[in-house]
Amino acid sequence: MAPSTDLNTHSPGDASEPASEELRTLLKTATNVFADYVARCQSAQAPILTQASGDELSERFSQLGPKTANIWHDISEITATATNTWSDRFLFKLYAAPTPIGVVAETLLAVLNNNAHVFQASPVGAVLEAAVVRELARLAGFPETTGGLTFPGGSYSNIHALMIARNTKFPEIKTKGISAPLVVFTSAHAHYSIEKAAVAAGIGLDNVVKVPVDAGGRMDARALEQLVQSAAGVPFFVNATMGTTVLGAFDQLEEIARVCQRHQLWLHLDGSWGGPLGLFADPAVFSYSMAPVDSLTINPHKLLGIPLQCSILLVRHGLHTMKSALGLSADYLFHSDSDKWDVGDATLGCGRRPDAIKLWVAWRYHGSAYFTGRVNHARRMALQMAEMVKVRSSGLWRLVCEPASTCVCFWFVPRGAYEDPGELEAHRARGVDERWGRVTRAICERVNREGRVLIDYAAVDLPYGQPAAQPLPAFFRIPLNSPHTTRETLAAVLDAIEQAGHAIFNQL
Ligand SMILES: Cc1ncc(COP(=O)(O)O)c(C=O)c1O
Repeated sequence: MAPSTDLNTHSPGDASEPASEELRTLLKTATNVFADYVARCQSAQAPILTQASGDELSERFSQLGPKTANIWHDISEITATATNTWSDRFLFKLYAAPTPIGVVAETLLAVLNNNAHVFQASPVGAVLEAAVVRELARLAGFPETTGGLTFPGGSYSNIHALMIARNTKFPEIKTKGISAPLVVFTSAHAHYSIEKAAVAAGIGLDNVVKVPVDAGGRMDARALEQLVQSAAGVPFFVNATMGTTVLGAFDQLEEIARVCQRHQLWLHLDGSWGGPLGLFADPAVFSYSMAPVDSLTINPHKLLGIPLQCSILLVRHGLHTMKSALGLSADYLFHSDSDKWDVGDATLGCGRRPDAIKLWVAWRYHGSAYFTGRVNHARRMALQMAEMVKVRSSGLWRLVCEPASTCVCFWFVPRGAYEDPGELEAHRARGVDERWGRVTRAICERVNREGRVLIDYAAVDLPYGQPAAQPLPAFFRIPLNSPHTTRETLAAVLDAIEQAGHAIFNQL
């Protein structure tokens, strides 16, 4: 029988065209559709964000049941309204454009459809996962016996780290549950996934102690020591951060590690954002002093450009520790508990995407030097942007602090934001004004609505010329990541902020 050319005629049981041919035809078209989409996204005028509201989009895509006349039309509707992460002007969150080879590797995962719970369901995935874990462990100074797995995101890696720490330190919890209050320590600027982990682990938010930060947003190790000593429950876990979410601060590990050793606490290092910078950067561009930690999270889907999602948790004490902390050896799945390649039992889940394949493929394709170049570029762009902020003179431009790594945080206050321009001048010399938060949010909202640039703001508590942390008004937080970012990109972002600021506040 001649193969059908109408792809929409297929129905279950219809073997008129082999899947291989259907896939070939679809992928041929997809190659052009996707490459054209990326080309449009990268053009200078490409919008970053759709102007349609959630309700409008919901209405537009509400029909599922009837078979579409043309799936490529539907797919083009999806791409036309998707957020454009390929543009260098997408500076909204901590991830950026995926690398083209990453897209190929992502497609490979779909083609393989392997499942990384038992060896036989993903033999090559298991081996490639072990290979990337080995290499990352070497870069981080972990021993060869280190265990590690991929998880769907940094939050899940952190949650697993905390669960593994808890059940390793208190093995009876696995069967009997928690009987005494356990206490977790994390900096006031750490990611909320540590608190989510405490919620999930039955530890409770009241037992998460937020350690104060210094003027650069780094955990204060002396305060940590005092808080551990005065804890109301049983301290067992400290989370340090390699690249905080807002300021990009790198907690200084040596002193924190000493506190953990003194009190026998598990030390986890959350490198979801800054990990690749800490491990791959050229020391002349950025250097970070590692100290022994028990576990480490790294998100290659952020600074390394691997498509979402790809996060890796390394555990110094090996895969067997992870398995004994979380494993249940269900014999309908794990037929031989001695098989070291049946790694899925070391997770809180069951089926798992073999995401490590994406990192392995990208690493082989580009070589380590690409990752080094990529993170070096991000760091250089952050430093350049900070300098550009400092020399702008229309209104008040002020850095929240020098960029600790690859986030640039600053305020812009147009002259028109104050009825009395003298007030603005007075603020150049002293402190901050809580009204700047309103200014930041209004400008950000307008810039993003205009759609040529997508940026974000944040607020943190920081000792800002004061002995103790105080709430700061919201400021712009620009994460540098993409290798496509140039000095022109940075100027375009600052211009967009400035123009929106003047447009809003000169009208008042
Ligand atoms: C420091 C830090 N840890 C963890 C996470 C969570 O990562 P994910 O979004 O992959 O869950 C983030 C996300 O931005 C982060 O900045």
